[in-house]
Amino acid sequence: MSRMDPTLSEMPSKGADFAWNDTFLLGYTPMDTVHEEFVARARALRDADAADLPAALAAMVAHLREHFAQEDTWMTETEFPPRQCHIDEHAAVLRSADEVLGLAGQGQLEPARGFAEALVDWFPGHADYLDAALAHWMCKRQHGGKPVVVRRGLALR
Ligand SMILES: [Fe+2]
Ligand SMILES: [Fe+2]
Repeated sequence: MSRMDPTLSEMPSKGADFAWNDTFLLGYTPMDTVHEEFVARARALRDADAADLPAALAAMVAHLREHFAQEDTWMTETEFPPRQCHIDEHAAVLRSADEVLGLAGQGQLEPARGFAEALVDWFPGHADYLDAALAHWMCKRQHGGKPVVVRRGLALR
């Protein structure tokens, strides 16, 4: 008998491989689309070889700027009440991104790898706590209710 419950071993998770899966869905489609791109860019940066690293870093930072600007705009335009800590967290990540970009410009590529790992660790918590609240807010404004998220492949009890 296998020690592992097959349903558990087949369940998608946010950790290990950091591949896009339905556990990342928050139910506000414009945000989910941006988050899917984030996951792809973070993986590309984490897995890039030395030759591809500068381009992967530039693409990651460009993505972060657009991603955060979009969410910040949603928050300010709709006067989302707890927006400040969310906006501040975006700004802190962008400060790190600028630092890493500067070092890469001087030929130091190792910090870019650390940055990729840090983003992979950071994103699930940010998405679960801050982005999820914003997604609910945006859906509520559009449809008058919380988003209903249908995630495939999750064991239900
Ligand atoms: Fe986000
Ligand atoms: Fe965010």
